[in-house]
Amino acid sequence: MAGITAAITAIQGYVPEDLLTNADLEKMVDTTDEWIRSRTGISERHILKGADKGTSDMAVEAVKGLLAKRGIGADEIDLLICATVTPDMLFPATANIICDKIGAKNAWGYDLGAACSGFLFALATGSKFIESGTHKKVVIVGADKMSSIVDYTDRTTCVIFGDGAGAVLLEPSTDGMGIQDSILRTDGSGRQYLHQKAGGSLRPASHDTVDRKEHFIFQDGQPVFKAAVTNMADVSAEIMARNQLTSDDVQWLVPHQANLRIIDATARRMGLSEEKVMINIQRYGNTTSGTIPLCLWEWEPRLKKGDNIILSAFGGGFTWGAIYLKWAYNPA
Ligand code: UT7
Repeated sequence: MAGITAAITAIQGYVPEDLLTNADLEKMVDTTDEWIRSRTGISERHILKGADKGTSDMAVEAVKGLLAKRGIGADEIDLLICATVTPDMLFPATANIICDKIGAKNAWGYDLGAACSGFLFALATGSKFIESGTHKKVVIVGADKMSSIVDYTDRTTCVIFGDGAGAVLLEPSTDGMGIQDSILRTDGSGRQYLHQKAGGSLRPASHDTVDRKEHFIFQDGQPVFKAAVTNMADVSAEIMARNQLTSDDVQWLVPHQANLRIIDATARRMGLSEEKVMINIQRYGNTTSGTIPLCLWEWEPRLKKGDNIILSAFGGGFTWGAIYLKWAYNPA
């Protein structure tokens, strides 16, 4: 790719301190540690506690760490995009709130909602502002306080989700590093299987919506599972083929962490051995927009300049996609 590419030049994650373990969940709903681990791969998740804490509080921690790492001030950020399905409030955008809290006085920002594919959609979108030459420093945040929309009496969903945030800085690269290609998809007919029924303009909040528990996540797991396995594997294979990448050429797969079985199916389809797959679902569960940056953050010390990395996700909407990038820097 000639000209300017958009490269990740720093990464930082944040998870809250409090843990919700499988043993805790055994006391809350009719489930077992064995079922959760064998069906999902999850052992524990982090939960943001405190009545006055929202998604922006986790995002702020991640972004502050990111800026400190890169040695730049908040006033140098041009744009901040926050991928989330659990905004602090319906408006203003969580991105606005984050910018205010960190003092990003020269930035504009907005939220992007694409459920578990949110970070990928935001990364692809943000990269265009860098590639066009109009923006020099774009922050992409993926953050979700899933515990705010989980029904902790519903065993089919409460075992899956956790809270967390991750942020990356995008800057121009002139040596071809960074984002090389992206394939992003939506299929709104899948919305019936995974959604939050009330709280939007279609079903505004009322006593009735609260009584019916319509402000929690609704998921029909099996159809989502099937669509996730097929589409995440297909799109990951497609981006490899389109860029003439063999399994030997790919150093890392960074999959959305929804279910270990979905991750395994994707890696198998790509012909990748498990050492090349970033997996931390056992400790964080599904943090929705947070999963991919949290993986990159944890693996950062092992990433080398020029590594070919495929990011891949599937989520509610349905939404899914893959991004191919070349890592832009060596470990510090
Ligand atoms: O990231 C966003 C996109 N979301 C996903 O990718 C999630 C995709 N779906 C999944 O990961 C899986 O479908 C789940 C993990 C949600 C469920 O696993 P499953 O293997 O599809 O289970 P199932 O829904 O087919 O349920 C099998 C059985 C049922 O009991 P019966 O009807 O066979 O008696 C469930 O009631 O397991 C039961 N079950 C549980 N048992 C113990 C469901 N949840 C639990 C539980 N503990 N927590």
